[in-house]
Amino acid sequence: MNSAFDSLSVCEGQSPRFERPTLTAVSAPVQSNGRGSTLEYAAVMSESANRTRIVLLPGDGIGPEIVAEARRLLESIDAFEFDQRLVGGISIDESGLALTDEVLDACRGADAVLLGAVGGPKWDSTDPGAPRPEQGLLGLRKGMGLYANLRPVKPLKALIDASPLRPEVIAGTDLLVVRELTGGIYFGAKERTADSARDDCVYTRAEVDRIARTGFEAARRRAGEAGKPHLTSVDKANVLETSRLWREVVSAVATADYPDVELDHMLVDNAAMQLVANPSHFDVVVTENMFGDILSDEAAMLTGSLGMLPSASLGADGPGLFEPVHGSAPDIAGQGVANPLATFLSTAMLLRDGLGRGEDAARVETAVEAALASGMRTPDLFTGAEGEQECGTAEISAAVLAAL
Ligand code: IPM
Ligand code: MG
Repeated sequence: MNSAFDSLSVCEGQSPRFERPTLTAVSAPVQSNGRGSTLEYAAVMSESANRTRIVLLPGDGIGPEIVAEARRLLESIDAFEFDQRLVGGISIDESGLALTDEVLDACRGADAVLLGAVGGPKWDSTDPGAPRPEQGLLGLRKGMGLYANLRPVKPLKALIDASPLRPEVIAGTDLLVVRELTGGIYFGAKERTADSARDDCVYTRAEVDRIARTGFEAARRRAGEAGKPHLTSVDKANVLETSRLWREVVSAVATADYPDVELDHMLVDNAAMQLVANPSHFDVVVTENMFGDILSDEAAMLTGSLGMLPSASLGADGPGLFEPVHGSAPDIAGQGVANPLATFLSTAMLLRDGLGRGEDAARVETAVEAALASGMRTPDLFTGAEGEQECGTAEISAAVLAAL
């Protein structure tokens, strides 16, 4: 049977260490192939070895369109080396697997990975044996050890009117969802019989401890020197045993190492309500995998479009994976109208959190704001208000590049 669990086991048994790119990871002429002298070969190798290698995983639906634009953006910033690979449905079509070992290895050996989106109706199935595009994404998360998913939500000034909330409710909203990404119900044992199905939700103390620390550190970083760091831990401790462990561990980490951070615990149903009633209450929200999936979509919509929210998935070591939060939007794929901005903002996170290039990241973010300030809107953002012009992927991407 080919359950999500089985497909994830491709990643297990492989080295848990993350290796940085080595010479052999770079495709370059070998001495014996008659394409160059040993000296030329050495020059090519050292030049390639110094270049920052980014694996591009366009995936399905609108993924290829938006990742192509992000590649152009990156090309205008530096001479990065790109390695484009298949993941998701397109990989299933090609190889029968949503993620192959080769692609996972390429990702582990890169400096950073940029992903578009995976999935589409073509591969939707309730058959437990059918391969699913999402296994590609889950396999990357598990296989690269990406336990921390950061999803910042900050409505851009130009888009306040696109928010479904009134401007006075949205005012001052600037939050970060820190989602645990490699545990919980997503990765617990699964079982299907003719008449029942089961998904286990398991968390260990160590898994909660490390993501809690990611949350506390993020709260401190965002507060800066003068501010008061604030962390909201979201759980369902009135019902779930995993949530009671979660709450206990988060509290213990706070007492031991983060007494300066204001910590509150909130039940997930209340958090869902507070996010729309009083979004500016939140600064950093730390939560488990499934709650984080749901709450981050809700939080993303505060910005007026799911098409605006970037994300970073990071591990203890090794390259991070950066991707827009929106899905593959198969209904608009290939029409040239997809909003590339969440991918551009994910590219900014790749530059800052993945490559330590904060200045370049800030340039990209400013350029995105400038393109929006000029009035350009892809259909998902277009409200018809004065000064707005509806445009496609290529036009808004060109505007961002011009503003860079
Ligand atoms: C996300 C997505 C994924 C998830 C899907 C595609 C498996 O919804 O990144 O939020 O549930 O984690
Ligand atoms: Mg989701």
